[in-house]
This record gives sequence, C-alpha cells and structure tokens, in this order.
Amino acid sequence: MKKAAILLTFVLMMIFIPETLVVNAGHVLTIDPSNPGPEISPFLYGVFFEDINHAVDGGLYAELIRNRSFEHKDPLEGWFADFETGCQATFSIDSELPLNENNPHYLSFAIASDSGSVSLSNNGYDGIPMMEGKRYVFSAFIRGNSEYSGEITVLLTDAKGNTIVEASLASAFGAEWEKYSVEFEITEDCDNGRLLLTLRGAGEVCLDMISLFPEENWNGMRIDLLKMLEELRPGFVRFPGGCLVEGDSLENAYRWKDTIGPVEERKANYNLWGYHQSYGIGFFEYLLLSEHLEAEPIPIFNSGMSCQVRGAEYCPINEMDEWIESLLDFIEFANGPQNSFWGSKRVELGHPEPFNVKYIGIGNENWGTEYHDRFPMLRDAIKAKYPEIIIVFSGPPSYEGASFNRAWRWARENGVEILDEHMYAVPEWILRNTDRYDKYDRSGPKVMLGEYAAHAAGTRNTLQAAMAEAALMTGLERNSDIVIMAAYAPLFNRPGWSQWTPDLIWFDNTRVYGTPSYHVQKLFNENLGDVVIPSKLTDENLEVIGYWFKSLYHVCEYDRETENLIIKIVNPWPEEKEVRVEIGEQIEIKGQAEVIMMTSDSIFDENTFQNPDKVLPEKYDLSGLSNEFTFTFAENSITILRLNAVGL
Ligand code: AHR
Repeated sequence: MKKAAILLTFVLMMIFIPETLVVNAGHVLTIDPSNPGPEISPFLYGVFFEDINHAVDGGLYAELIRNRSFEHKDPLEGWFADFETGCQATFSIDSELPLNENNPHYLSFAIASDSGSVSLSNNGYDGIPMMEGKRYVFSAFIRGNSEYSGEITVLLTDAKGNTIVEASLASAFGAEWEKYSVEFEITEDCDNGRLLLTLRGAGEVCLDMISLFPEENWNGMRIDLLKMLEELRPGFVRFPGGCLVEGDSLENAYRWKDTIGPVEERKANYNLWGYHQSYGIGFFEYLLLSEHLEAEPIPIFNSGMSCQVRGAEYCPINEMDEWIESLLDFIEFANGPQNSFWGSKRVELGHPEPFNVKYIGIGNENWGTEYHDRFPMLRDAIKAKYPEIIIVFSGPPSYEGASFNRAWRWARENGVEILDEHMYAVPEWILRNTDRYDKYDRSGPKVMLGEYAAHAAGTRNTLQAAMAEAALMTGLERNSDIVIMAAYAPLFNRPGWSQWTPDLIWFDNTRVYGTPSYHVQKLFNENLGDVVIPSKLTDENLEVIGYWFKSLYHVCEYDRETENLIIKIVNPWPEEKEVRVEIGEQIEIKGQAEVIMMTSDSIFDENTFQNPDKVLPEKYDLSGLSNEFTFTFAENSITILRLNAVGL
C-alpha cells in the first residue's frame, strides 16, 4: 500500500474504527516494583533551538525592526521611503565608510537644501506591537557630512500613520558614526504600528542599526516566549540547529564567532531557511539561556561540510583547521580560564564564571564516508585537549534503512559516545514502533533523539499527533538508560513567516500558545520519575487492518522525592479502555492520587490563536485507592496517574 493510502486508512480507522476491530478485553496492568528498571535520565526532555519559522529574528529576539542593518539580500527589505512633493533627495545603500567591517552596508540620503522631507518607515513583522504603559527604546547609528544640517524626527505611528509618540534627534550630525537613542512610553495599545523617521534638512546623512526594542526583555529575548520555555523546564538546549548549522554552502554555515559581542559588530548572515539572521541571539545568549533554564547546553558545530540534503560542499580534508580551531576556541570561550584568550572574551561579555559545557555535537544530519572522515578529526582534537567533553555524533536524516544502519555500525565500531537520531514520522509509524529502543544494544553509543515529531495529516499540530508523540515517549522513558536526551522539533512557528509545520509553540506579535504537543512535552517532563518500574499489560497487541499496534501505550516509574508511583497511559483509540491495575506489594499505595488527563472531542482538534486552550490537560484528585484498583482510560486520551506510594 502506498504511504498516502496507509495514512488515509489509519486516519479513518482512528475515527470510525468498528467496535469489532478493537477488543476491549478488560486489560490488567501488572506493576512489579520488586525489580526496578533503569534510572531515568534527569535531562531526558530538552528543547531544540533553530532559527527556522522566524523563531529568533521576528520571534524570540525582541528587536521590532526588520533589517535594521541593511544587510539583507535585498538591502531595503522591510523599509519604505516616501518623498514630500518637491523634495529633491536621493538615497542609496552604501558601503564606503561602514560602521565596522562586519556591518558593511548602510543607508545614505542626499537631500537638496530645504526642498522638503523624506520619510522612512518600517513595520517590522506584520506591524510593530506597542503596549500601553510599556517603554520602548529607539536607537540608530548616524553620521552626516560636514554640510549636513537638519533634523531627524522619530515617530511611532499606528497602521494608518497617526502619531502615537514622537521625538526629535539632534539637528546636526558629526562625520563619525555616533549612536543616538530615545526612549518612549506608550499610552495606548497598538498591535500593528510603524516606525517612521522623517528627515528634513540639507546635505548627506547616513543611518545604520536602526532599532526599536521593548525595554522589557531578557538578554534581548521576548518575555512571553521565554516564559513558554521556562514552563517546559527543559533538561537541555540543543542549538543553533539543525540544517542552519550546515548552511546551503560553507559560506553561510554557522560560525559562532560571528554571533558574539556588540550587536552592531555581529556578522549577520543569510539563513538556509530563506531569510536573514541578525544574530541578535548568538552563542553567548544561547549559553545564558541554557544557564537560566538550568539546562545542559548542547551546542552543535559544523563538521566541515554543508547540508548534504541540499548538495553538500565539503571542506577539503587538509583545510579542516578552520573548523577544528573554531570548535576548540568555543570550548575555551565557554569553559576556559578568565585569562585565556577566549575565556577573557567571556569575561568581557559579563560572564566571568565558566559555563561548564559538557557536550558538543559535531554535525547535523550528516552521513557517509565524507562525514566519517571528518568527524574523527574534530572529535580527536577536542578529546586531546578536553578529554572530559562528551561528543555527539550526527545520525543521517533517516531513522531506519541502509544509511541509518550504516551510521550505527560506524558509530559502534568507532567508539561514538552519543548518536543523534532524528525522527519525523507519521503517527501510525510511531504507534507501531514505540518499542524501538527496547531492542537497542545496551553496550553501544547512547541515543540523543535530537529532533522528532509526529507528522499527522496536513502536518498539523493535532491531538492525534500529540498522542503518537506521547506513546513514543512512554518508550523513551522505559529505555532512558540508552535514550538520554530527546527534543521535539521545531520549537517555534510564526504563521505567515514559516517554512515548517508542525511546531511546538505558535506565536505572533502579541500572542503565544502551546500546541497539544507542547502540553505533552510539559506533562511528561513535569511527571518524570527517577526509575522505571516494570509493567505488563494483558492483551497488549492490537491488530488493525493487518497492522500491529498496542491497545494502550504505557510506562510506570517511581519518583523518590514525592514518593509517587507514576503511571502514564496513552489510549489513541476511539473507545475507552477499562484497566485493572495490580501493583506488587513492595510498595504500598496510600489512597490518594492525582489524575492528569488530556483529550478532546476529535483527534483533529488543535489549539489556535482564537481558541488556544481547546486541547488542554485537566487535573483532578482520586482517593480510596489501594494496590489494586480499576481505572477507565478515556478514548483518545493521554493520562498520567500519580499515586502516593511508599516503600521503595
Ligand atoms: O527541524 C527542522 C529541520 O529538520 C532541521 O533543521 C533538520 O535537522 C531536520 O531536517
């Protein structure tokens, strides 16, 4: 059967499944605390950060001006100039006397004596949001020629051009670049505003790094989006990509040194996802973010080859020094002594203490001889200087098949410590493979499932997708001795500016919501035990139209701090399931339990800006439970039972 036909059958099956096909056998779940399973990785669930879908520029990075430094491929992208009738002025993008060599372009106006005004406007991403009572900081680098006299007025307007606030900058500008700033307090909400600069005078004036920033931000980050990350409490942050690390060619591969220091000195770069990145959030900010979230930073570095899916460019083997040095310099920057060359740069940026980076990823979705030749060069150079650093080897884009098997073979034979798997699969594949890691060789490399998501029909963030992910996660937790890290991907989506769905968190200028997948990540992480408790379900296997699934997907674990036995059950089927739970006497159930359950009317339900809480977990308490009880798991649901349990 073709993939599309299987998918259609599966979708229909999940809605209209005839009762005769799903046998509600009255399952028994036996939980055996006498022989606890593996300890669960405390940083199992993390986030994968990549500037795709305008996750950073136009997203987490709070800058409200699009193309503030005129470095985009179209240097005027985002900008509109308007000349008053009679105004004799010309403007151009120049590069003769730049702000610095990393920021080569700027906007230059030549205005004839008192002939009228020129207006320059920018509406950011879908308009500039301004909130009542909040303060915003405008800044720009400006220089004039010796004869320039005139004034620049800064206005924030609504979409129709009505002024909200206004201020005048100096009326004479020196021949050297100088930074000018104005702070505004906004007195009325406007979610679709504009920045408008009006230039009036005579002579030549040049502008660069025209910026508008909400005063309320955290290291340049939007507070509401940051909060969504804080609430996930991720165990690790994998950054800055993704394919982004690799580049379409080595020219726009990610180079961390371009991304640190004063923002006007960062070397903005064209992004493989089709837009320009300011690097306003760069490696230093990613490290700060990881620290703030108390998460392990997992920086990913280019392996000396650009994206293989897009027709790779390979750095010749005898020219790999650039990539090796860059990596070693990063480790010195992040972890090195304050008096080391790169360590002192970290001190200058305000972080004297080392970041204590423990893991480094080499490459993203790389494979084959070219990767196998380059990976050891980078790994061995790191290990020679920093033997304590643990290296993550990149798996190919596929999660099964020849290339995937070859990667694993090579990894086993070459002492790889962690292999980064990526899995974007349809829900039915995931539901049929949740026991994938039960069969992994325990003596080989550990797994970081660095990117995964269920791609349901239309790649939408539906309950159906979230249920498949939750089912997979029961398998990840059961096998957390080998799967030590896992992250949903991608993290953010800005509709209208995106390249990829589904995504975990959706946002626009003023709103943000978590998808059902977000709530699954959050729930599973909040309810992560320390140790797996073996469990078995009777009548577990379910055959549907010739394919084998599970009647219910489950994992049990114990959390020592709260003395809770945690049972996670996913029922992705359209009928409720009654389960008799029988818990071995090594632990004693103390009666009280908390139930957390997520479901919705339809498996196609999703959250939206209009209805962000449509698919949301609900909590309630149960009492009177003992070591044996019966519980009914709702159709199309994800349920977590937290039972007060002593004895382990
Ligand atoms: O998450 C989006 C992309 O998917 C990543 O950049 C890449 O690693 C994968 O192919």
